Amino acid sequence: MNKEKQKEEIGKYAAQLIKDEEVIGLGTGSTVKYLANALGKRIEDGEKFYAVPTSYQSMQLCINNKINIVTLHEFTPEKAFDGADEVDPSKNLIKGRGGALTREKIIGYSAKDFFVLIDDSKFVEQLGSKFPVPIEVLPLAYTSVIKRISEIGNPILREAKAKDGPVISDNGNFIIDLWVKIDNPKTREVELNNIPGTIENGIFTRECKTISIVDDVIDVK
Ligand code: A5P
Repeated sequence: MNKEKQKEEIGKYAAQLIKDEEVIGLGTGSTVKYLANALGKRIEDGEKFYAVPTSYQSMQLCINNKINIVTLHEFTPEKAFDGADEVDPSKNLIKGRGGALTREKIIGYSAKDFFVLIDDSKFVEQLGSKFPVPIEVLPLAYTSVIKRISEIGNPILREAKAKDGPVISDNGNFIIDLWVKIDNPKTREVELNNIPGTIENGIFTRECKTISIVDDVIDVK
């Protein structure tokens, strides 16, 4: 099964875990799009869903599919659903290719169950093998953060594609991509967040359930 088909099947499967009237955390990216679209179909048939979105893209998915948008101030979702860039054998993650890591972490870490939707390209032996660790920083601190994290790995300020200069996150900040192999995800996650000016980083170590496809069959771990 190709990657896109895997994403579609995983998204549809995840949608089945959501009950009518349930409040969920809705992640960001190309995989959760399929989940949102599947909920959209059920909404056409009369069901109702509520979501705390993790980005403007996620908010747009809600609007386009008529999923009611709510906030963490009002609800703590039992379940949050999101994609990932890398997953290691202990189910630690790198997230944030799309720049939504901060809200994704706030919402993903608030939910009782965190479901991670991943095609088979996302599995790695060690975090940092294919993707950098994104770090959201206050613009005024980006040079001082880069100086500090240069001792750990190779930091690159993320440049915008359709704008001159750096990417601006949904929260108005810069994103630094740190290329580094992660030996101890839990320690690194805390260490990076301790650097002044850092808002959040894309290492996720909370317990999660992965949904993937193995030999053409859905696998939940
Ligand atoms: C958004 O910032 C990311 O964390 C995405 O959730 C992650 O990159 C997975 O995206 P895909 O489902 O598009 O691979």
